[in-house]
Amino acid sequence: MQLGCVVIGTALLMRIRPLVGGAEFAQLMTIAGVVGFVTIVAWGLQTREHRSALEMARSVIEAREAQVSLEETVEQRTIELEEAQRVLQRMWWLGQQIALELNPQRVLERFLEAVSDIAGADAGAVGLIGEDGKIHVVVGTGMLADYQGMAIPIADSAMGRVIRSGAAWTVSDVRDHRDKVSPDAYEHLRDKMRGVAIVPISRRGERIGAVNLVTRESRQFTTTDLERIEAMADLLSVSLENAELVETLRKAEWRFRTLFRAAPDAVFTVLQSGRIHEANDAVREITGHEPRVNVGREIVELIAEPDRAPFQSALDATLSGRPSRVEVAFTRDDSGVTSRRIVAVAMSRLPEADPPALLLIARDVTKEREMRTRLMEADRLAAVGELVAGVAHEVNNPLSTISAFSQMMLRDETLAPSHRDSLDVIKSETMRASQVVKDLLAFARRSEPHRELVDMNDVVARTLRLRGYQMTANGITLETALCSELPHVVGDARQLQQVCLNLVINAVQAMTPMGGGTLRLMTYGDSGRVVIDVRDTGPGIPDAAKARIFEPFFTTKDEGEGTGLGLSVSYGIMAAHGGTIEAVETSSKGTTMRISLPRCESL
Ligand SMILES: Nc1ncnc2c1ncn2[C@@H]1O[C@H](COP(=O)(O)OP(=O)(O)O)[C@@H](O)[C@H]1O
Ligand SMILES: [Mg+2]
Repeated sequence: MQLGCVVIGTALLMRIRPLVGGAEFAQLMTIAGVVGFVTIVAWGLQTREHRSALEMARSVIEAREAQVSLEETVEQRTIELEEAQRVLQRMWWLGQQIALELNPQRVLERFLEAVSDIAGADAGAVGLIGEDGKIHVVVGTGMLADYQGMAIPIADSAMGRVIRSGAAWTVSDVRDHRDKVSPDAYEHLRDKMRGVAIVPISRRGERIGAVNLVTRESRQFTTTDLERIEAMADLLSVSLENAELVETLRKAEWRFRTLFRAAPDAVFTVLQSGRIHEANDAVREITGHEPRVNVGREIVELIAEPDRAPFQSALDATLSGRPSRVEVAFTRDDSGVTSRRIVAVAMSRLPEADPPALLLIARDVTKEREMRTRLMEADRLAAVGELVAGVAHEVNNPLSTISAFSQMMLRDETLAPSHRDSLDVIKSETMRASQVVKDLLAFARRSEPHRELVDMNDVVARTLRLRGYQMTANGITLETALCSELPHVVGDARQLQQVCLNLVINAVQAMTPMGGGTLRLMTYGDSGRVVIDVRDTGPGIPDAAKARIFEPFFTTKDEGEGTGLGLSVSYGIMAAHGGTIEAVETSSKGTTMRISLPRCESL
């Protein structure tokens, strides 16, 4: 504008030059010159000032811009820091979880969950090389969940390549690299996944598998992402190893527990104090109590009184380092009813047990011992039989001679009556003696039984007819339970009836002094055998007599009441018939005698 004024002023001066005089014009020119100079100087000054104002404005803008970018940077850094912190937290959490986790499968699941989160993946899978040389997908999530449990060959899979090379592999869009993944996987997932990152998992320098992360949208996993996954994979391999160790231990422990619990023999661990520390299920068989009831009790309390001292000294010997074996009676308690079990116990010190403890393995040998006793009894009876048979033959000959001569003399008409009486006595006593000899021979099984079909129900009925009156007279009630479809047996009906009679007589004799009782006779078939039970409500067989009742001449009865031959003869007869005879039960409430014979298959 100032320049415009100078130009217009100069043009006006040029116009008025002809109108004014030279001197006035010169004055005007001077004034105009001064004014023009002042104007130009002022303009110059103004222009400079303007320029500096502009510069100032520009620098303000620049400063503001710098501040904005600084703020942005700070914000960016803050976000990055926060992210790093989140990742760190996640990694720390994973470390905690994995360290706490003892199940290898859950370790893998936790790991996958955490890496997917850290790397921002939508799905993932972990593959580990199995013994068959294939990659087994041990865990999968999201769209890769289907892969869990699958075995992938190393040869044509992306995972296999990563495991072989040991270098992580990542692509932002798998569609551009379809030749790099197995065709199956590609077909299956091409519409679902884009970004892929596969990182190897190593253990002590050996590559054991890989973790595969995928995203639904196209996405480039950064180097940082891969580094983080690698760091976590290292953590995984350590934790996995620990968890596997724990798992192996747990399995071993479980196997031991199962063996311990299910062992057929009773197993106790006993502390130095003599108290039971552990007991397995089989303990119930010999103590009658649940295992937990036994725990904490003193083990000697379970032993029958007379055996406690030897048991305790065996315990002491074992504690001082000498493994021992004892056979003792345990008192078994079945809800109040006590019985004795003969138990063989092997004791040893538990190595490295702290506090010191003993291992006791106890086997119930009651049945074996009973069997042994019975066998010994049978052996002894056989020996007695041999002896008796020999004696009986030796006695038989003189007896027949005596009998023959006494009969011959009795035929003499001239005999004095007193001599005749004496000879009668000789004859009848001789016959009694030879009956005893006959019985002894039956016991010694020297007389072969007849073989005919016998219905034992008939035998029982005939026996009862013979003794019916004696029973009612002695206040004995008779009960019978005869099986209507009892199979026949093969044998000598007369001998079998004698056995039956002997049992009935013994039962009646046992109950008569008590003023009577109940006699129960039962016949039944039992796994190919015909069984007869004779049960009385008498006082039972005395303890001291139990082992000897089948011995010839063993009796607890008074002279004239018992000969001690009934059961021994019966024993011989049953043995000759392939049968058995035993006292199956005897207590103060009564006695059950049982005979059994093989049922007849054919004659
Ligand atoms: N039912 C029974 N109850 C109690 N004791 C019995 C019974 N049967 C047999 N005994 C015992 O067995 C012993 C032997 O019996 P046994 O051989 O028949 O001879 P005896 O009857 O002549 O004594 C008897 O003395 C008795 O002590
Ligand atoms: Mg008798």
